[in-house]
Amino acid sequence: MDCVDENMGMLNLSKEKFKNQKYIKWFCNNAQKLPFKDNYFDYYTISFGIRNIENIPLALKEAYRVLKPGGKFSCLEFSKVNNIILNKFYQIYSKSIPKIGKIVIGKSEPYKYLIESIEKFYSQEELFYEIKKQNFTSISFKNLSGGVVAIHSAWKV
Ligand SMILES: C[S@@+](CC[C@H](N)C(=O)[O-])C[C@H]1O[C@@H](n2cnc3c(N)ncnc32)[C@H](O)[C@@H]1O
Repeated sequence: MDCVDENMGMLNLSKEKFKNQKYIKWFCNNAQKLPFKDNYFDYYTISFGIRNIENIPLALKEAYRVLKPGGKFSCLEFSKVNNIILNKFYQIYSKSIPKIGKIVIGKSEPYKYLIESIEKFYSQEELFYEIKKQNFTSISFKNLSGGVVAIHSAWKV
């Protein structure tokens, strides 16, 4: 299994966490330009990463390129809550996160970024169409916790 993150600090944290898993290879690279040949992987998965990527269509194009025909794409990411009442509670909760961050670790900025990046990010349907634009097929998504998070899946044929 090959694992990519462009931030060496984050990569090192993961390396430490999975130090007993000798089958993982670590790559400090940008998801927009992966260091792998075409049609290489059976499976591409990205969790809480795509929202942070500058050029998401390019990263999706790379995902498609490195997958083998028959390979599966899977993406776990924050998304949009569609239920009006649940969304009201979620908005109140979201606004309190930077304040909680300030109290617990003395910093609110990383949490402000987190909330803003979630707000700016695609809806389930928008991400679906971005994936579709890159030629993936059989695209679907599954909402978790009412859409706070969604898993998008797709195939390269
Ligand atoms: C919120 S963390 C998620 C980390 C991990 N995937 C997880 O689920 O715990 C987002 C990660 O995406 C990485 N990242 C952001 N943009 C990237 C890019 N263009 N290429 C590779 N990694 C990127 C960041 O360095 C960061 O480690």
